[in-house]
Amino acid sequence: MRQNSIELRTLWFMGAKTRLCSEFIDGAVSDLLEPGGTILDLCTGTAAVGRFLSTRYRILANDVQNFSSVVASAHLEGDDAWFSAIEYLDPREDLGRAFESNLRLVTRLAPEALTTEDSLLDQVERELGVSDGPQTGAADRYRQFVAATPLPQVEPGGSPLFQPLTSAMPGLISQRRRDPTIEPAVLMTCYYTNVYLGLRQAMVIDSLRHAIAQIPETDPFARRKRTFYLAALLHAVSVSTSGTSHFAQPRSLEKDSELLAVVRRRRIDVEEGFYLALDAIRRELGESPRLGGNRVFGLPLDDLLAEGGPLADEKVDLVYLDPPYTADNYSRFYHLLETLVDYDYPELELRGGELTRGRYSLREHRFRSDFCKAGEVEGAFNRVAADCRRLGARLLISYSTDAGLMTKRWSRAGEEKPASRFRDMMRQYYPQVEFREKNLMHSGQGDSNRSVRELLILCEG
Ligand SMILES: C[S@@+](CC[C@H](N)C(=O)[O-])C[C@H]1O[C@@H](n2cnc3c(N)ncnc32)[C@H](O)[C@@H]1O
Repeated sequence: MRQNSIELRTLWFMGAKTRLCSEFIDGAVSDLLEPGGTILDLCTGTAAVGRFLSTRYRILANDVQNFSSVVASAHLEGDDAWFSAIEYLDPREDLGRAFESNLRLVTRLAPEALTTEDSLLDQVERELGVSDGPQTGAADRYRQFVAATPLPQVEPGGSPLFQPLTSAMPGLISQRRRDPTIEPAVLMTCYYTNVYLGLRQAMVIDSLRHAIAQIPETDPFARRKRTFYLAALLHAVSVSTSGTSHFAQPRSLEKDSELLAVVRRRRIDVEEGFYLALDAIRRELGESPRLGGNRVFGLPLDDLLAEGGPLADEKVDLVYLDPPYTADNYSRFYHLLETLVDYDYPELELRGGELTRGRYSLREHRFRSDFCKAGEVEGAFNRVAADCRRLGARLLISYSTDAGLMTKRWSRAGEEKPASRFRDMMRQYYPQVEFREKNLMHSGQGDSNRSVRELLILCEG
């Protein structure tokens, strides 16, 4: 794949694996499998690895998060008819009318707040964005504006500035919990305004999401178009969020520097970002044609690999397993993206009767991975290895020697060579197991510029 193509981020937070693809992971894959073979990217995430390999291998991709499987599907799946149709796709024709109609209705819910937001975002940028900017108190007025945002609760409450949304909120949400297709679509507006998104941004996202759902079943490419447009919308949302790179917590507005960063994100035009993302995906598919026959699944991996499961008729040559390293579940960190895809107005989690700062959906609706549980992670690796062996597939595992939940536990318990122990564990299933390590600078939140050892375990024979 061309370098400029792989640099396209499917989602903004895509990172480490892209940097590791070109030599480290690609080298191991080439040592395990001839081009033309079938690779199962079992925890595909942002689909970075599957995409990278897709010009030389057939790719099956899977992830339990729906937003990940949407992204993977847009980048990997499709037949010749679809790839020809993409060139002539007219998103404005497909989406324009339903988008405008929803936007007209949703903006009527908070006209004064929208005007105030537009003006305050400009004023804050002028006040804090340049040295010696005019000190008009805009930063504090914006803080007050954010504090006045109505909460997504069934009890009415909030400021008159957001009328009629403030009074209508309880009814809007309870109606749509019964029928999520009602126009105007308002989920992002009600749940995440001034938390992870600006008001106008949330309304535009709701309107695009609504328009995508409205593509008629009679359209021969209805399903593919919905997936393609939704992947572009996920990208646009992931680059516009005023959170950091994830949705575990919104940013605090206390410090002026944080406030300015948030305001700059809220000035991003999501609609423009959506069309740019569409063009980028379309260009990549044109420049780097896929081998064909790719399939995407959206299942817990134990279900996917189960005997008689969806892979029963597939010949899988190599499984690439890149599970979560830490106790942080992706379902919590990226809950907003999952809610955007599901678009079902979920009940939100309460603590002590109050909404959480992160506005998570109820815990029982969020998937909790065994790879994120200290007591389960070893068992999870053992099950995958046994399943892959039974499928007759080689196995390539990505993990972190230093930051991995399992390897870190072993180190803490006195194990001096966690990578060797991991290799020995896999030898119960495969006769030939090798490990490779590489130092990588981590630039994630809180652990900037820390060097960690990335680990690959190659299992075959
Ligand atoms: C480290 S990320 C994968 C990153 C990916 N290689 C990329 O390049 O973006 C781990 C992924 O595993 C998924 N996951 C965690 N537990 C899973 C399970 N039991 N079944 C399926 N997917 C799972 C998460 O949703 C997450 O997307």
